[in-house]
Amino acid sequence: MSGKGIRIEGLRKRYGTGDTAVDALKEVNMVVAPGEVVGLIGPSGSGKSTLLKCLGAVIEPSAGKMILGDETIYDEQWKVKDIRALRRDKIGFVFQAPYLIPFLDVTDNVALPPMLAGVANKQARSSALALLEALDVQHRAKAMPSQLSGGEQQRVAIARGLVNRPPVILADEPTAPLDSERALAVIKILNDMAKKFETAIIVVTHDEKIIPTFKRIYHIRDGVTYEEKGEGRPFDA
Ligand SMILES: Nc1ncnc2c1ncn2[C@@H]1O[C@H](COP(=O)(O)OP(=O)(O)OP(=O)(O)O)[C@@H](O)[C@H]1O
Ligand SMILES: [Mg+2]
Repeated sequence: MSGKGIRIEGLRKRYGTGDTAVDALKEVNMVVAPGEVVGLIGPSGSGKSTLLKCLGAVIEPSAGKMILGDETIYDEQWKVKDIRALRRDKIGFVFQAPYLIPFLDVTDNVALPPMLAGVANKQARSSALALLEALDVQHRAKAMPSQLSGGEQQRVAIARGLVNRPPVILADEPTAPLDSERALAVIKILNDMAKKFETAIIVVTHDEKIIPTFKRIYHIRDGVTYEEKGEGRPFDA
């Protein structure tokens, strides 16, 4: 399916039932082209994480449609047989708090996804090192996660999300702990990745430093999405 982007139509998600039910997503419509990085912005509780979890097949939506590439993954019900394989092979996650594996060094944390996908260890480690270099943490390649600063951990987690070159990347506040220069470097890497590998990328953020870099932004309020054209300043060709 590589390089066909993301399409979401009329997506809904209700948590729970009866009196305590919460309609976290009421009407979500989004299109992300291959090679595109879009921003997703909304207040706390508006449904951003819920949307990323549905799209990442971590939780099941209640209604609507999700298409990744030319594959409909959800249409009122799951349409894929192997949801774990979908998550592993098609979707790169970059989460808010970097969940690194404490007993693996930095290189092996990043090399793990390709190793799990069957790539030879040596090759997986060399892909890992290339990304660590791109994210300017190669000097910490042999360190353990507990020895890293918050910003370094975040960059390692980003490297891990990108290493398998998934066609879809979902990032939840990827630049929150980073200074301006590093935050923009991360966004540049995401844009370069998107262009080079036709990746479709959604970045959830509140980060004022990176918002001007998006050419298109979706706003979400009370579980409903609205599209806005962004400025796309720093990375316009
Ligand atoms: N597992 C759950 N069970 C019930 N309600 C939930 C669950 N997860 C989230 N919600 C509710 O769904 C709504 C959307 O939550 P979500 O976490 O998607 O918001 P968010 O936009 O990511 O917020 P934040 O910016 O604070 O991370 C909120 O009202 C939240 O309380
Ligand atoms: Mg959230």
